[in-house]
Amino acid sequence: MTTRDPYILAIESSCDETSAAVLHGQRVLSNVVSSQKIHEKFGGVVPELASRAHQASIVPVVAQALEEAEITTAELNAVAVTLGPGLMGALLVGTSFAKSLSLSLDVPLIAVNHMNAHVLAHFIRKSEEQLIPEFPFLCLTVSGGHTQIVLVKSPLEMEVVGETIDDAAGEAFDKAAKVLGLPYPGGPLIDKYASEGDPNKYHFTAPRLEALKYSFSGLKTSLLYFLKAEMIKDDQFISRELSNICASYQRTLVDYLLVNFETAMTKYEITNICLAGGVSANSLLRSKFMELGNRMGCQPFIPAFEFCTDNAAMIGVAGYYKFLAREFADLDIAPKANWQI
Ligand code: KG4
Ligand code: ZN
Repeated sequence: MTTRDPYILAIESSCDETSAAVLHGQRVLSNVVSSQKIHEKFGGVVPELASRAHQASIVPVVAQALEEAEITTAELNAVAVTLGPGLMGALLVGTSFAKSLSLSLDVPLIAVNHMNAHVLAHFIRKSEEQLIPEFPFLCLTVSGGHTQIVLVKSPLEMEVVGETIDDAAGEAFDKAAKVLGLPYPGGPLIDKYASEGDPNKYHFTAPRLEALKYSFSGLKTSLLYFLKAEMIKDDQFISRELSNICASYQRTLVDYLLVNFETAMTKYEITNICLAGGVSANSLLRSKFMELGNRMGCQPFIPAFEFCTDNAAMIGVAGYYKFLAREFADLDIAPKANWQI
């Protein structure tokens, strides 16, 4: 960190977290995340409710981030914000706020791609000795809306070389949880129950598509039909077998994610691999990803827990690289719900 490093205020509002962070260069001075609880009972994010909750939270969340960082708006050198992909109404709240702030403070606005930022969360600096990924590397980005294998050539040059043709990995966790009667987001709960279960007790199938393509919708359906058949025989089946079902489903999903990723590692002959996105908080995926790296002679990187799920610190570090490249956005820029990397 040098005194010339910029102070960047970062804002994230693409889905159901309102978050603001202040970074000095690549160091995080504050990272406030307000998760919307309102969606729990609906089994998924309700877009209109998300927009309203962002509106209610954005001012206090930004104020808290500035306070925790112990800086004033006058010290900021730029405002970075998620421009997409995400829910249009939710993105509008963050981008409108960021534009107004940039205009009133007369500092540049930086438009950040949310998926790009998940990858760059690995470049948040905690110490000088910290090992960081070397370019080029491959990243498995697994979130509630995306599943991507990304070839990362530099902070600003990324290419999606593999992805899902339907649901995302996080959705496969969340939809399974819904079928099991668990609240949204179900991924962390499946992870929790799985820790007490037998991962080999039940068998679910994931389709093998052409190399580097994923499909998760069939996996969720195979769970649904399995449960329906078992519940006819025993209406207590889910509550009695919850841990074993979660452990078996999670194992299938994690193995499926990694088998394609291993194919990409062989194809691109890289030496560094990273895991990113909300599902990278999954304990089994984290341990199997480390094992895979070690087995293949690659250096594996998994993000700190606080930077796995949506947060503004990752938007800030992505903004930092754009700041260095002087890639600033115009004030008439509009959110992009489907912005590809
Ligand atoms: O990256 P993220 O916060 O939001 C999007 O960009 O979509 O990812 C959220 C997803 C949700 O589907 C959530 O269930 C999943 O990440 N997730 C997990 C775990 N923690 C969060 N999935 C499995 N195991 C976890 N421990
Ligand atoms: Zn995300």
